[in-house]
Amino acid sequence: MSRKTPHFSSEAFTMKHGGRKNNNFSIFVVVFSVFLFGCFMYNEDVKSIAEFPFSHPKPDQEINNGNSNADELKNVEIPVVKSSRTIVEKEVESSTEDDDNAQKQNSIAIEQVEQKKIELPVEEEEEDNGGNANDDDDDADDDDEIQLPPEDCDLFTGQWVLDNTTHPLYKEPECEFLTAQVTCLRNGRHDSLFQNWRWQPRGCSLPKFKARLLLQKLRNKRLMFVGDSLNRNQWESMVCLVQSVVPPGRKSLNKTGSLSIFRIEDYNATVEFYWAPFLVESNSDDPNMHSILNRIIMPESIKKHGKNWKNVDYLIFNTYIWWMNTFSMKVLRGSFDEGATEYDEIERPVAYGRVLKTWSKWVNKNIDPNRTKVFFMSTSPLHIKSLDWDNPDGIKCAKETRPVLNTSMPLNVGTDRRLFVIAANVTRSMKVPVNFINITKLSEYRKDAHTSVHTIRQGKMLTPEQQADPATYADCIHWCLPGVPDTWNEFLYAKIISRRS
Ligand SMILES: *[C@@H]1O[C@H](CO)[C@@H](O)[C@H](O)[C@H]1NC(C)=O
Ligand SMILES: *[C@@H]1O[C@H](CO)[C@@H](O)[C@H](O)[C@H]1NC(C)=O
Ligand SMILES: *[C@@H]1O[C@H](CO)[C@@H](O)[C@H](O)[C@H]1NC(C)=O
Ligand SMILES: *[C@@H]1O[C@H](CO)[C@@H](O)[C@H](O)[C@H]1NC(C)=O
Ligand SMILES: *[C@@H]1O[C@H](CO)[C@@H](O)[C@H](O)[C@H]1NC(C)=O
Ligand SMILES: *[C@@H]1O[C@H](CO)[C@@H](O)[C@H](O)[C@H]1NC(C)=O
Ligand SMILES: *[C@@H]1O[C@H](CO)[C@@H](O)[C@H](O)[C@H]1NC(C)=O
Repeated sequence: MSRKTPHFSSEAFTMKHGGRKNNNFSIFVVVFSVFLFGCFMYNEDVKSIAEFPFSHPKPDQEINNGNSNADELKNVEIPVVKSSRTIVEKEVESSTEDDDNAQKQNSIAIEQVEQKKIELPVEEEEEDNGGNANDDDDDADDDDEIQLPPEDCDLFTGQWVLDNTTHPLYKEPECEFLTAQVTCLRNGRHDSLFQNWRWQPRGCSLPKFKARLLLQKLRNKRLMFVGDSLNRNQWESMVCLVQSVVPPGRKSLNKTGSLSIFRIEDYNATVEFYWAPFLVESNSDDPNMHSILNRIIMPESIKKHGKNWKNVDYLIFNTYIWWMNTFSMKVLRGSFDEGATEYDEIERPVAYGRVLKTWSKWVNKNIDPNRTKVFFMSTSPLHIKSLDWDNPDGIKCAKETRPVLNTSMPLNVGTDRRLFVIAANVTRSMKVPVNFINITKLSEYRKDAHTSVHTIRQGKMLTPEQQADPATYADCIHWCLPGVPDTWNEFLYAKIISRRS
């Protein structure tokens, strides 16, 4: 069925760009397509994403003080992410209400997470990694105790343990490069326990993080994150992780267009971020102007972005959150360059598969695996409905101060698993090997670690009134720093320091 739907869509569902200035026909189309969609989808795939503000703060005005981009402060609108059902309600009834009761699922209260968690898991005895120790770090003067996890250890299955001696890996005020989007404590968050969790894989341990060792591996190299605002979140984390050992004046941050470059002079190394929220070409590629609600992609066009990814030594890709505000994806007929405006509406997973196919072909063709290591970050989860983790008194993620700690409790926070599976599958079967960094499940436990109301919106700090209204204003997509993205970077670190060349 799903194979036919796109054809059907392309004939029946083509609308002109801007065609949502509504007539009855387009409402009919929306309703009918939802009906079709509902017939084909599993409930849990559709259920989850309620309304939340999706802020696109402006790191640049913080980072590039010299570069104040007045134009960034204009034009920033808040796209709203909703479940497909919610969107329909909005379009048809002009309602902005969440549909909490919609398809309220299976996962019954198993545990009162907040109340019962009095005792916390504490740091465990260091695993004995036996013979794997010390065989790869001889170029590191101060790193003779680094133990690499065995190759066959699954780093992504495990638990969060409280470890305030090793975590956070850096302090919020000590990293001048953090933007106001993520400095939750400075922005008024009072609890800081969310910074103290360490990811403990089941059968081994992540290697102790040493910034100097990482920089030695990055000497004369470029590391680049490519993707959406979650990858930018992770890039900021990586900048902070390495910058602590670099003296003032020997590091700089330069943002030009879609590319932000953090340079570490003494190592001739860079940690970069390239904005491409869909990886392929789209009408959302302007790094500053994010006000496009009617997002349209060109799933087969990647060269324009791709030329900026060449000659990089570590490439870390992602794409997820920008797919989530509508249940179908608009695919341009023709090219933006030629002024095309007509598009077809394609089911989200179908379009996602096409994009990742384009991306994998680009990687296979353009990447020399002897030089460049490629990573793909799995989907970063949202925490929009506190009932997902059985907290009836919660407001989105806003009141959460502890992770979900019972890992045997089924947890469904509404991640679109279909996209996760496509990414896992595509990356597994490529000519150029790609490290799939499977952060989804472990981040799903971290309902406590989002920026929530301690962030900016449209370039401005939330006002006290807005902070008092988390149901409207909490950002449960992005993460505080220090925080969860540091752990994602610990996975990259483990892979990078294991590399021999
Ligand atoms: C991802 O990791 C989770 C545990 O965190 C595991 O259950 C799942 O099978 C993994 N998926 C893939 C595709 O590796
Ligand atoms: C770390 O945790 C221990 C035990 O929970 C506590 O006694 C100690 O004060 C904490 N240290 C810091 C720096 O927060
Ligand atoms: C500095 O790094 C770049 C790429 O990251 C490399 O092309 C160049 O050769 C390096 N310069 C030196 C002097 O090694
Ligand atoms: C930033 O990079 C651009 C392009 O490479 C360059 O033209 C500009 O001078 C740089 N700005 C700073 C402040 O280094
Ligand atoms: C990578 O290096 C190996 C061994 O040095 C060589 O046999 C192989 O042809 C190289 N592959 C590419 C794509 O250059
Ligand atoms: C964790 O969840 C499992 C499965 O839902 C449940 O059986 C168990 O009692 C819970 N454990 C704790 C410590 O609450
Ligand atoms: C996984 O990818 C392969 C090759 O790209 C494809 O043939 C297969 O249908 C995919 N499987 C799933 C479950 O998506």
